[in-house]
Amino acid sequence: MEKREKFSSRLGFILISAGCAIGLGNVWRFPYITGKYGGGAFVLMYLFFLVVLGLPIVVMELAVGRGSQKSSAMSFNALEPEGSKWHVFRYFSMAGNYLLMMFYTTIGGWMLAYFYKMSVGVFEGADAKQIENIFSTLTSNRNEMLFWMILISVIALAVCSVGLQNGVEFITKIMMTSLLVLMLVLVVRSVSLENAAEGLKFYLFPSFEKMREAGVKEAIFAAMGQAFFTLSVGAGSIAIFGSYIGKERSLAGEAVSITVLDTFVAVVAGLIIFPACFAFDINPGEGPGLVFVTLPNVFREMVGGRIWGSLFFLFMTFAALSTIIAVFQNIIQYARDLWNWPLWKSVLINGVVLIVLSIPCVLGLTDWSSFTIGGKNIMDIEDFLVSNNILPLGSMVYLLFCVTRYGWGWDNFLREANTGEGMKFPSGKGIRFYLTFILPLIVLIIFVQGYMGIFFK
Ligand code: ALA
Repeated sequence: MEKREKFSSRLGFILISAGCAIGLGNVWRFPYITGKYGGGAFVLMYLFFLVVLGLPIVVMELAVGRGSQKSSAMSFNALEPEGSKWHVFRYFSMAGNYLLMMFYTTIGGWMLAYFYKMSVGVFEGADAKQIENIFSTLTSNRNEMLFWMILISVIALAVCSVGLQNGVEFITKIMMTSLLVLMLVLVVRSVSLENAAEGLKFYLFPSFEKMREAGVKEAIFAAMGQAFFTLSVGAGSIAIFGSYIGKERSLAGEAVSITVLDTFVAVVAGLIIFPACFAFDINPGEGPGLVFVTLPNVFREMVGGRIWGSLFFLFMTFAALSTIIAVFQNIIQYARDLWNWPLWKSVLINGVVLIVLSIPCVLGLTDWSSFTIGGKNIMDIEDFLVSNNILPLGSMVYLLFCVTRYGWGWDNFLREANTGEGMKFPSGKGIRFYLTFILPLIVLIIFVQGYMGIFFK
């Protein structure tokens, strides 16, 4: 069997884990959900959940990955007490990764399509209405969406096929660094637009009135889902990166770096998008099209807008691609850990299956658009299953595995998490009580209430 690769540097590890976290969740999903649930109040709740729910789970996933040196295919087998059944979670974990990619590649494809359209000048001279039309034309054209979805998937598969260090680590480092720099430039442009202050007010000042209009229970459920989604926790896609690192650094500090980078990109994406909405009179509650109909207007008004616009969508593609590559890497490693497949075989078989399974999302927007459940199309259903079900519940599996003696256990978890230099995971009785009883209870209550909020409005 080929030797299992490791990351070449700590920076590589942090940027790839952050790259897995940073993605469409930050630049596409976060702004439009924030718009839908009324702005600032939603942002506050989301930040709260990130810290109290998301962050500890990132540490736990990394610890399980590093402790077992395996992907979620075998990590529980390596650490669970004899005779227990934690390893059954591997099927849910893989279902989560697959389901995430089944709609993610379609939206990643939109980003790529926009990069192309911007660069060849499709938006030149278009007014706000025409810009909206370009988006609706793309999202109602089955073949065009299939083309971009397949292209972005093939690019990600090609990177993974080169290997961890020379493919995944090398490309992601370049993409993440350029993404962070460009976002800062765009923020300056967006907040200096006319009427930007209105957008900033909407985004940064909590208005619970607006949230009430959208439904408070649903908003809390959505904020929790977003916190899990943005960190990619609960399905083993962060755990895998723990399996590629050594014991030099303790894990709490690494988890904080990943979470801070991820939050930075989401917050900055909002700073770019909301001022632009108000400057160009676009409804921030617009839905999934928000970034696609807002930003081209900003670039239209800018000197050198075509170049900035192309760069923007190129880097949005990078954000999407870094997540697709990271999750594909997890899926590919999973099959290798489970069945000892060589790299090429895992890339090929998983690649074909992933692409085929991504087709229903495209069809759900076109030929099968009449198929909905509770008003949700296939993309929304897949997103809902992942973000509001598999990720929160999967996170609870990691949590209980790490804190109870029926799983890996608190002491083993702490020893792994705190090995190495850097910030330590708190070990006091209060924290343990919180993690064992309060955190699962919060997730459970929000989960039940959220379902009730959706189905018994
Ligand atoms: N964490 C990934 C994102 O935010 C799924 O896009």
